[in-house]
Amino acid sequence: MDHEPHSARYLNDTRDLWWNEDFLALIAARTGLAHAARVLDCGAGLGHWTRTVARLAPHAELTGLEREPAWVARASADAPPRVSFLAGDVYALPFADGAFDVVTCQTLLIHLRDPRAAVREMVRVLRADGRLLLCEPNNLAEGVARLCVLPSFDLEDALAWLRLEATCEKGKHALGLGYNSLGEGLVELLDPSLVDDVSVWNNDKCTVFAPGESAAQRAARAEIADELRMLADDGFTWSREETLRYFRAGGGRDEDFAPLLARTRRAWAQRIEALARGTLSQNGGGMFYVASARKR
Ligand SMILES: C[S@@+](CC[C@H](N)C(=O)[O-])C[C@H]1O[C@@H](n2cnc3c(N)ncnc32)[C@H](O)[C@@H]1O
Repeated sequence: MDHEPHSARYLNDTRDLWWNEDFLALIAARTGLAHAARVLDCGAGLGHWTRTVARLAPHAELTGLEREPAWVARASADAPPRVSFLAGDVYALPFADGAFDVVTCQTLLIHLRDPRAAVREMVRVLRADGRLLLCEPNNLAEGVARLCVLPSFDLEDALAWLRLEATCEKGKHALGLGYNSLGEGLVELLDPSLVDDVSVWNNDKCTVFAPGESAAQRAARAEIADELRMLADDGFTWSREETLRYFRAGGGRDEDFAPLLARTRRAWAQRIEALARGTLSQNGGGMFYVASARKR
């Protein structure tokens, strides 16, 4: 089942720091978003991506569709002009065939049991020649980049984290809650009988973990604050209880869980402390894919 409410912990305003504006303008020009009249954002959450897309599509009416009524109410409260939010399910969109010029989502498909069915439904409501725009990460790749910095990194720490995280990602998927690194497989979801002209790009934003005041460096500070909050809990990416549930579902053995989690938490705490002290700097790149396809 993929209908557990999405935790507000993952819907904070660091989402507004994920993109470079000029890169987004390039994507808008490449995909026709800049000239779109009707745009749908699926799994809109609190509307972070919907508001970003609204800036890129200055002539469009935008709809942000979201499953959780509470998020719809909050997003609606400060919706900019031209943007409205609606409760609904991406698997059964309440729109006619061909109703939109562009249909998009950001970090939605990674949470779905059946992302292929969701994409099929998103394509249904696109007009012929309309554009699908999917933005989804490969979270495991980003973690490897973050943890395996400098030749002196501790391989056993990195392997402990990877074993825990990858087992949990597999377990979360086995429980029908989506695959957190799905971004790597986006093209696999695009049925060539429905769409063509496929392109995939990678978000060019690096959250630069180094002293300074650029937007990228502010994003890095926000990410550090997020990680400190996660470490203040008893788990890491998820609470300890949730992590154990995913670990077991991914085939992890109970006796391995506590040592892997302890080692993971220690490794990430050391990284965060070094970044905060200024004894470590990182480029902070990730793998956040942007896939575009045209409806046939
Ligand atoms: C990680 S959040 C992304 C929010 C937003 N796209 C953003 O980037 O800020 C994923 C959102 O998808 C919503 N969601 C999950 N399954 C859904 C479904 N079947 N139909 C519509 N929304 C769904 C969740 O409630 C959550 O708000």
